[in-house]
Amino acid sequence: MKLGNRMAAIANMVPRSRCLADIGTDHAYLPVHLVKECIVDRAVAGDVHKGPYQSAVQTVEQFGCAEKISVRLGDGLAVLSPSEADVGVIAGMGGTTIVDILSKRPEVTKTFQRLVLQPMSSAGFLRQWLMEHEWMIVEEELVVEEEILYQIIMAEQGRTIPCPPLMYEIGPVLWEKRHPLLYRHLTSMASQLKTILGSMQASTQAAASPKFREYQEKLAALEEKIACL
Ligand SMILES: C[S@@+](CC[C@H](N)C(=O)[O-])C[C@H]1O[C@@H](n2cnc3c(N)ncnc32)[C@H](O)[C@@H]1O
Repeated sequence: MKLGNRMAAIANMVPRSRCLADIGTDHAYLPVHLVKECIVDRAVAGDVHKGPYQSAVQTVEQFGCAEKISVRLGDGLAVLSPSEADVGVIAGMGGTTIVDILSKRPEVTKTFQRLVLQPMSSAGFLRQWLMEHEWMIVEEELVVEEEILYQIIMAEQGRTIPCPPLMYEIGPVLWEKRHPLLYRHLTSMASQLKTILGSMQASTQAAASPKFREYQEKLAALEEKIACL
């Protein structure tokens, strides 16, 4: 199965393992690919909605993987027992939804050896949650697919020293390795902040708020980082 850039980068972060859990699997392309390539022995493909669940069942049958991939309908990690999977993938959802899924079932979350997460938004909030809950960010990737820049975060259990707040949003590993797409990532963050500040400026109340000052300071700090690249 040919994966797009985003899904291929997620697949690259899954190590050779016994069992993968792909939560919010939708079409189940990731578990099918990883089982077919013998990267994982088996997989659980979970989705909370019936349509995606049915499309996952269909893909798994079409590729003859029904013996190795268990497709389950349910909310987040409720479809899994503790220690059932070594690697958990949650991709294509907002960072707050990912945190919600991970924090709702701590008894399952703490039994993953590795998490591979691809937030569509609130990546800073997700990184901060990981670091505050004894997950170390060990690798990060940026990929472009159809002109959209995606962030992928790989975490393993362990403690790290806390990051400066801006680094949660930038991505400590992306910064450390000066990822080739880092300039694009930071300038896109800066332009989002400028848009927010621009719309806040239209209201005297918003422009006088502590939030406005906070965003201004964040933009200045971000511009300093961009200037270092
Ligand atoms: C945009 S799709 C992403 C599909 C795939 N993971 C990917 O990255 O291409 C998000 C999927 O997550 C599912 N989803 C959203 N919240 C969920 C939850 N709490 N538990 C399980 N699945 C969820 C949705 O039904 C949908 O199929």
